[in-house]
Amino acid sequence: MAEQKLLGKRAIVTGGATGIGYGIAERFIAEGANVIITDIDETGGTRAALALGDHCQFVRHDVSVPEHWNALFVIAQGKFSGLDILVNVAGVTLMGNIEELDVATWDKTMAINLRSCFLGCQGAIKLMKADGGGANY
Ligand SMILES: NC(=O)c1ccc[n+]([C@@H]2O[C@H](COP(=O)([O-])OP(=O)(O)OC[C@H]3O[C@@H](n4cnc5c(N)ncnc54)[C@H](O)[C@@H]3O)[C@@H](O)[C@H]2O)c1
Repeated sequence: MAEQKLLGKRAIVTGGATGIGYGIAERFIAEGANVIITDIDETGGTRAALALGDHCQFVRHDVSVPEHWNALFVIAQGKFSGLDILVNVAGVTLMGNIEELDVATWDKTMAINLRSCFLGCQGAIKLMKADGGGANY
């Protein structure tokens, strides 16, 4: 059994349906955390939450959409009454080369890989501070 270093901690892990996000969620739960995994892939996310067990909930969430973040934090507040950890994992690899790439694809990729971290951290900080936690540097 893994050391319970995260016992009772409340976490959100984006991109949790597979890959790195799934692995982080699995480890967090093994160390005692309760985790909301989010992903744009509803089938994969539902399957992942089932495999990860009672300490995991899946929320369908597109990290590039600000309203989805707002809805996610309402769910997290209702479930956890606060938040200790946010892990921004969801991401995509930019397809195509610079000569052929269109602006819409570039913007969408930046919204998924970069703007999502800003939106996620901005909302998470509010929840953490309201609960007396978090850290400002
Ligand atoms: N695997 C590696 O070695 C590696 C190395 C460096 C960087 N990365 C980057 O780290 C991130 C995660 O890597 P991975 O290997 O787990 O990738 P992955 O493709 O296995 O998983 C990414 C997850 O993000 C989800 N996702 C994609 N767009 C989304 C969106 N708009 N909203 C919510 N979820 C979305 C996908 O459905 C998928 O489940 C990726 O951005 C990847 O490019 C990976």
